[in-house]
Amino acid sequence: MENNLNKIIENAIHYLKFVNDKSYYDIYADYLKVKEEVIDDKTIDAVYPQKIKKEKNILVKEKQTVQRNVNLSLLTESWMEIEKLDELDKAICDCKKCSLGKSRINFVFGVGNPNADVVLVGEAPGAEEDKQGIPFVGRAGKLLTDILKAINFSRDEVYICNIIKCRPPENRNPLPDEIGKCEPYLLRQLEIIKPKLILSLGTFASQTLLRTREPLGKMRGKIYDYMVGDQKIKLMVTYHPAALLRNPNWKKPTWEDVQMFRK
Ligand code: URA
Ligand code: URA
Repeated sequence: MENNLNKIIENAIHYLKFVNDKSYYDIYADYLKVKEEVIDDKTIDAVYPQKIKKEKNILVKEKQTVQRNVNLSLLTESWMEIEKLDELDKAICDCKKCSLGKSRINFVFGVGNPNADVVLVGEAPGAEEDKQGIPFVGRAGKLLTDILKAINFSRDEVYICNIIKCRPPENRNPLPDEIGKCEPYLLRQLEIIKPKLILSLGTFASQTLLRTREPLGKMRGKIYDYMVGDQKIKLMVTYHPAALLRNPNWKKPTWEDVQMFRK
């Protein structure tokens, strides 16, 4: 029985990695519904070790996020049909779907070339980004600009945005609810821009985009296919510039990543 449950959880986690496309969300929600009947709290408390309990909590959280996405995808909102980035920004910049809508100074939509081949995706705005309404303009942003320069990209050539458009208080990690509500905006941005390549910055953005819990060290150095609708975009992962400011030892691997990205 324990093996059985382990297998179910393993499968569910494995499955998560393939939930990249909106159309998979409903299948996944159904899948979890079935599993939920097997994995009930009492059984877990009575029989199963802490580890499985933890995994289950992760799954429950993921499920909530997925269900919100499903709900959102069933609801057609007017911004979903918009074909131009600046019009999309105007349509969503007063968003109050999560509590960050109350605490933000500015909605940080994204900047750069609307026809960029390359999109950089970070986590969420910090204090300076919130003040200016532009992503990556604080200390980490200056470092990002330098990294781009080192591989012959200017900020205007690429497009820069975040998973979450509003600053979380005290820069805490975004919550599943906030991701569930905000990620569809990013997907629409990507549908409009149609980039060839995405560079995902740091653990949070990468785990969110790739629907995985792998540590950053395991994700970098690979080229992923990221699906936006039926568009396939290559995706690479590297350290977040804020992480480089904390740990300069990561500068060398980042340099290797961006060289590979440039190629
Ligand atoms: N960190 C991020 O992830 N995004 C920003 O825009 C700024 C800092
Ligand atoms: N931890 C983070 O939060 N980001 C990184 O890029 C690496 C480690």
